[in-house]
Amino acid sequence: VDVAVDAQAIISLRALSDNYQTLKALAGCALLAPIKANGYGHGAVAIAKHLEHLGVAYLGVATVFEALELRQAGVVAPILLLTASQPSALAALIEQNITLTVSTLAQAEAIAAAKRHYTPKVHLKINTGLNRLGAEPSDLPALLAFIAKAGCELEGVYTHLIDSEDLPAVYASQQVELFSQQVQQHQLDLPYIHYANTGALLNPALLARQTLVRPGIGLYGYHPGPDTSHLAELTPVMTLKSWVTLVKTVATGAVVSYNALWQAKQPTHIATVRMGYADGYKRGLTGKASVLIAGQVCPIVGRICMDQLMVDIADLDVAVGDPVTLFGPKTITAETLANLVGTNSYEILTSIGPRVERVYQ
Ligand SMILES: Cc1ncc(COP(=O)(O)O)c(C=O)c1O
Repeated sequence: VDVAVDAQAIISLRALSDNYQTLKALAGCALLAPIKANGYGHGAVAIAKHLEHLGVAYLGVATVFEALELRQAGVVAPILLLTASQPSALAALIEQNITLTVSTLAQAEAIAAAKRHYTPKVHLKINTGLNRLGAEPSDLPALLAFIAKAGCELEGVYTHLIDSEDLPAVYASQQVELFSQQVQQHQLDLPYIHYANTGALLNPALLARQTLVRPGIGLYGYHPGPDTSHLAELTPVMTLKSWVTLVKTVATGAVVSYNALWQAKQPTHIATVRMGYADGYKRGLTGKASVLIAGQVCPIVGRICMDQLMVDIADLDVAVGDPVTLFGPKTITAETLANLVGTNSYEILTSIGPRVERVYQ
């Protein structure tokens, strides 16, 4: 793939489709695609439209603006707001047919007060131990009674897991049991019963009654952690590319980049690349990461700057304008970079900033 003008995130819709089919087949039920955080960095609108085309049952977002952006772009698929919303945003969300998450009586009351002539769709969230959002099991009778008479449509019930990607998932197995128990006890025979993120979907020990799964990272081609990697073959969807802006030879003793962290021990061929931490390529990768030029691994030398970085190209034949791969499906992945800086592929992907053009193939 040639780099057209500047840094690009090449998004393989083919890989996205393959991951979608793989995960859907494993789950054997409907799928909610989390496309929060700009579709995990891949571009929310384009990802939503492609998944809509594939027949996805639901889309999941994390903010009011993410929800409204999709509707403005013409996405008609059901959208679940996975977090709470400020009362002031509820009327707009309801009008745009965004399904709301309810964890508290106060939220249910605010939704009922904002509904006007619409019937808001809600999913009840139960806290089974993550202690992020969700109603306590002891609060469910009052909450369910209120929702029933408030003129809302209770369409789903869900929870979120602590350690589903670990084998064994010590906490998640107890959570799934508690969740299933609550669903049964309160006869929550709703269209959408869901608890599975990618880890839980892949983890055979976490199987329980569900009608919807919510795999995020798996759709984008990564495993949530090392333990599940043998359980499904997924293909990374994003390739981060840029281009060589300068090629030069530096003399023995010359330093490269801020604070002189790297010094040439011998005359060295250096290429400057248009990619920096303001694009989401983390500064903490300084001294650790490499890039690919013509398929060859070239170590980054010196400090990664806001907009640029430098690499040792050894004896490679490199010219200004040549494409550079920062990460992709092979050799250097988002997970490779994540491991180098002690984070996860999620953070690497969602960090890719708006200066990087998304190109869909
Ligand atoms: C409520 C909820 N469901 C599902 C997911 C998807 O998780 P994963 O990307 O690990 O599959 C997330 C992401 O953090 C989430 O917050």
